[in-house]
Amino acid sequence: MNSRLFSFVAGETGPWHIERVLAVKGESLAAAPCLDVIPSVTSGEEPGRGRLPPMWALRGITSNERYVTHEEKRSLVAKQQGLGRPDSTCAALIPIRKSEAWWALSQDERRKILEDRSAHIRIGLNYLPAIARRLHHCRDLGTPEPFDFITWFEFAPADIPAFDRLLGELRASEEWQYVEREVDVRLVRK
Ligand code: HEM
Repeated sequence: MNSRLFSFVAGETGPWHIERVLAVKGESLAAAPCLDVIPSVTSGEEPGRGRLPPMWALRGITSNERYVTHEEKRSLVAKQQGLGRPDSTCAALIPIRKSEAWWALSQDERRKILEDRSAHIRIGLNYLPAIARRLHHCRDLGTPEPFDFITWFEFAPADIPAFDRLLGELRASEEWQYVEREVDVRLVRK
């Protein structure tokens, strides 16, 4: 079953050890020992059913791309690698909420900010294939969610400095002025 819906469940169990939870902007998430990433078959399924109650659980769904051009997509597909590489023992879970002002913009205005003025895709491309990623949308779930996006990244320990540089570049961009909540959760595979 190829699920598009994923639950990120923090608690006592899970294959990822949570090393650090850092509130970059706005309210943090509670510290927890472990994280499990669970593909859910139906949206009604309870995350972590049959286990101890989670400390927190976030949900998001993968979706079609909104902003990439044909050329950008070709470059991304040529360079990117998938999740689950044996060497990628480090991960980052970065849930993000953007402001009402962002969502009030039109699609073409958002694209101008995201790429023409912030170079999100151009910057990101420089970090492929070292960083593998998956973007999940939360607004499409139809239920009130604490974040708009859940981003997930996997990389080798040697690429931690590069990942931090990437974050520095993105957080300095005009696009990030529209980020009103961001939590940076770092993990290591057990
Ligand atoms: C590894 C390098 C990265 C690449 C290649 C990359 C690429 C992309 C692309 C192509 C999109 C647009 C998808 C679409 O067309 O809908 C996107 C969106 C997004 N990325 Fe990245 N990205 C990278 C790193 C990051 C990082 C480190 C973060 C978080 C700290 C991040 C957060 C987001 C978010 C939240 C969106 C959705 C923006 C929106 O729809 O408003 N990305 N990324």
